[in-house]
Amino acid sequence: MNPSKIKTLITLFISVAFLVCMLIINSCANQNSDAEAAGLKAPVYSNAVDYNKAEKGKVLFEKNCVTCHKFDSRSTGPALQGVTKRRTPDWLIEMIVNPAEMIENDATAKAMLAEYNNVPMAKMGITEEGAENIIQYLKKMDGEN
Ligand code: HEC
Repeated sequence: MNPSKIKTLITLFISVAFLVCMLIINSCANQNSDAEAAGLKAPVYSNAVDYNKAEKGKVLFEKNCVTCHKFDSRSTGPALQGVTKRRTPDWLIEMIVNPAEMIENDATAKAMLAEYNNVPMAKMGITEEGAENIIQYLKKMDGEN
C-alpha cells in the first residue's frame, strides 16, 4: 500500500467516524423531543389551586373556623388573608390538625398564642385530608390561581 492510499483510508475512516458520531447525537436529540411529544416531559409542579378541594375546604372552613377567623381583620384568631404566603403547607396542616401540639412545641404558634390573649386555637377534629382541602381554600382566598 502506498502512503497516499493510507492517507486516503485514514481520511475516510475519520469521516465515517465523524458521521456516526453525528448520527448518534442527532438520534439522542430526537429521542428527547419524541418523549416531549408523548407528554413524557419531567413534570412541572405548579402551585395552582385545586378548585375541587377548595370547594370542600370552604364548607369545612365555614362550619369550623369562621367563629374565630375572618380574612381581612383580626377576630378571636388572626386574620387569615395571606396566611398561605407566610406559612408553609406543612406548618398549616399541623396547625389545623394539631393546634394544641403546635402551641406547645412550635415557636411561631407559641408566640401567636401570647399575642391572641392566650386563647388557644381549638382542635376541631379536622383530618389531614380536610386540612389539605382547607389549605386549597385559603390559597384560593389568597388569590393564587
Ligand atoms: C376557638 C377559636 C378558633 C377556632 C374555632 C379556630 N381557630 Fe385558628 N386560631 C385561633 C387562634 C386564637 C389562633 C392564634 C394562635 C393561638 O392563640 O392558638 C389561631 C391560629 C390559626 C392559624 C395560624 C394563623 C397565622 O397567622 O399563622 C391558622 C392557619 C388557623 N388558625 C386556621 C384555622 C382553621 C383552618 C380553623 C378551622 C378548622 C381554625 N383555625 C379554627 C383560634 C381559632
